[in-house]
Amino acid sequence: MGEYIQELRATAAAMVAPGKGILAMDESDGTCNKRFDVLGIPTTEEYRQAYRQLILTVPNLSAYVSGPILYDETIRQSTTDGKPFVQVIQEAGMIPGIKVDMGAKDMAGHPGEKVTEGLDGLRDRIAEYYAMGARFAKWRAVITIDAVAGTPSLGCIEANAHALARYAALCQEGGLVPIVEPEVLIDGEHTLEQCFEVTDETLEEVFTQLRHQGVEFDQMILKPSMVIPGKSCPQQASVDEVAEATITCLQKNVPATVAGIAFLSGGQSMQDASAHLNAMNAKFRDRCPWPVTFSYARAIQQPALEHWSGDPSRVPEAQKRLLQRAELNSAASVGSYDSKMERPLAVV
Ligand code: 13P
Repeated sequence: MGEYIQELRATAAAMVAPGKGILAMDESDGTCNKRFDVLGIPTTEEYRQAYRQLILTVPNLSAYVSGPILYDETIRQSTTDGKPFVQVIQEAGMIPGIKVDMGAKDMAGHPGEKVTEGLDGLRDRIAEYYAMGARFAKWRAVITIDAVAGTPSLGCIEANAHALARYAALCQEGGLVPIVEPEVLIDGEHTLEQCFEVTDETLEEVFTQLRHQGVEFDQMILKPSMVIPGKSCPQQASVDEVAEATITCLQKNVPATVAGIAFLSGGQSMQDASAHLNAMNAKFRDRCPWPVTFSYARAIQQPALEHWSGDPSRVPEAQKRLLQRAELNSAASVGSYDSKMERPLAVV
């Protein structure tokens, strides 16, 4: 039994407490800069700090968000008044999380596929983040569907699942609840059925590897993608079809003892991300032994980022927009979201 077992269980339960989800604000500098570039925001540390301060000081964010996931740069930053972000999070009653992977890199011998790096030195980085106040972590693996190229390959699924499992074991040893994120990308022409097959194979391998590495399921959170047709697939699916296929795939592969499921949004529209999560909780709750909630990045932050666009005078309205999406997704996590709740946003 590990040193942190009780703390890990309590943290995991708090991360997926009723009506709460996780805010994935852990874009690497590179990804954050890409999002800034599109909007003409300067890609400097000063602007990244201002953006993260905007998010972390949203009034009442903790009503809907159990914890934000930070990035290495962000966990070391403070507000312009000098208060460390970690302290801002703790004082708001939220739990600080940290992305610990070093990114998805081209996989040798596997054209078009990625493998996530970051295991070397991870034990020491986990110890440092724990000492800084982090209590959970995230590692994202990327699986690409391309029927013509014949991906994903077994080699890619195995390598990513193995890395996820070794990461998760190290996290639990060091007191961080691992968010295990195998993302099957939404890009491509694949059908709902093809996405189901790949997600099924991926989750099966992930849980095999987690077992082999001795990971405790009641002290981890699974962050899966939904089972959904590719963005370019001519045959799109209804909200209920996505919800049912996703729950069926999870039920088949995810042990009932897993502490919680927190989906990524993966480039779905904000409304779809809310509607799909809602349908799972409203219609298929009796098939879910685990809490089912959100760990969204774009589907929570995008309207706020676009409105702010680097202008300090727009912070209060941008914060309202972020809070609105957090509130709607909180409703979806308990099955009480309705598309009628999508209020038109003020033009300011
Ligand atoms: P999206 O919700 O934008 O997919 O991001 C979630 C995430 O954390 C990806 O790693």
